[in-house]
Amino acid sequence: MIHSAFHEGPFAPVTEEVTAFDLPVTGSLPVELSGRYLRNGPNPIGLDDAEAHWFLGPGMVHGVRLRDGRAEWYRNRWVRSRDVAAALGETWAGGPEHDGMDFPANTHVLSHGGRTLATVESGPLPYELTYELDTVAPCDFGGTLPGGYAAHTKLDRRAGDLHAIAYYWALDHIQHIVVGPDGTVRSTTDIPVSDGPMIHDFALTERYVVLFDLPVTFSMDAVAAGSQLPYTWNPTHQARIGLLPRAGTAREVQWIEVEPCWVFHTLNAYDDGDQVVVDMCRYQGSYDVSILSGRGPLTLDRWIVDPAAGKVVQQRLDDRTQEFPRADERVISRPYRYGYSVEIAEVSRAMVDGNGDLTDTAFANTLIKHDLMAGTTQVHAFGRDATAGEAVFAPSSPDAAEDDGYVMAFVHDPDRGATDLVLLAGQDFTGEPVARVHLPVRVPLGFHGNWIGD
Ligand SMILES: [Fe+2]
Repeated sequence: MIHSAFHEGPFAPVTEEVTAFDLPVTGSLPVELSGRYLRNGPNPIGLDDAEAHWFLGPGMVHGVRLRDGRAEWYRNRWVRSRDVAAALGETWAGGPEHDGMDFPANTHVLSHGGRTLATVESGPLPYELTYELDTVAPCDFGGTLPGGYAAHTKLDRRAGDLHAIAYYWALDHIQHIVVGPDGTVRSTTDIPVSDGPMIHDFALTERYVVLFDLPVTFSMDAVAAGSQLPYTWNPTHQARIGLLPRAGTAREVQWIEVEPCWVFHTLNAYDDGDQVVVDMCRYQGSYDVSILSGRGPLTLDRWIVDPAAGKVVQQRLDDRTQEFPRADERVISRPYRYGYSVEIAEVSRAMVDGNGDLTDTAFANTLIKHDLMAGTTQVHAFGRDATAGEAVFAPSSPDAAEDDGYVMAFVHDPDRGATDLVLLAGQDFTGEPVARVHLPVRVPLGFHGNWIGD
């Protein structure tokens, strides 16, 4: 594949920051939704390097503020790192750094401990944003974070703790980090690993932190060859899954070997008796992250981990090509029934090789609701050119049933040449959207976000 595919069509960056108020809505916005839908993604400034790796563009956060059944505003803002501020002719706010690294965090956006944070992995710090998405400064959690942070986090809602796994090529370990509800680091645990593995995501159960040590590792050869993102497939690296007891030490991690594969994202995980169930989007066989290339297929799979036997049993949950798996945030780490994912033709085409049978354009741009208890799915297809992004779930009230709420995603409207924030009713997934908020501009395909209730 060609990296520049990520600078064209639905991936093409936008060139301006926009602020718009009182957005037009088709349908009716649920009055119970008060807060912000935020989504991060790479958005190069200019295209000096048209071959730049998709993962390395400066982060731009897009946000829609909902209140009282109205869409009060849309904003998109670059994350002002030192370089981004300079490119925009502004003064960098300054702030802490890890190992001299500064990067406009481009992967996820979340709220914790009173901060809105844009996050990224592999060394640099997150950036704190204001409610209106202006950059505050890099965040080291008030000086309590010893190194870098991570893109993906999991919130334990009972304790209010935010869990993450940080990795950095120069270290001989990865780090489990727990940030308490007060926004300071409560604990860190260093876990030795070999070869500098990329660890994009992980999973959490009530007993364990589930670690993915897979054969995509830092490569000096790739550095020497000029790779912008020097993480490549390493066939000599044993693929394994690790169970770190929540309050355990590195010595207590139980590693269990699995067949070689690659996982960007987990859907959820939970304890089932003595076993551990882990659901994920999984690329079979080898995957080269430096060029985003693997044979696939990419499927939604379940691993049932038996710690006593030291074995993993694998099940196929859905053989359709899909990514960006998400569950209701309230069920993270616990037994659950529903998951959401998306099939995006352009992403499948760009990320998985030999995908003639993987990318049925009739199925392109389809949100999928999985009923994991019944073993059934429902789909909401938006059609060709109506590119859909990651879907997140917003419950209709704090104690609503698991799928009683709204599934929200940015979906391109090819007729307008601009993007809608689409809300589907969780319990009427195939029905007409409850609401479409019409943004004044296009939002490029990007990475991850959250519904952040006020
Ligand atoms: Fe991700």
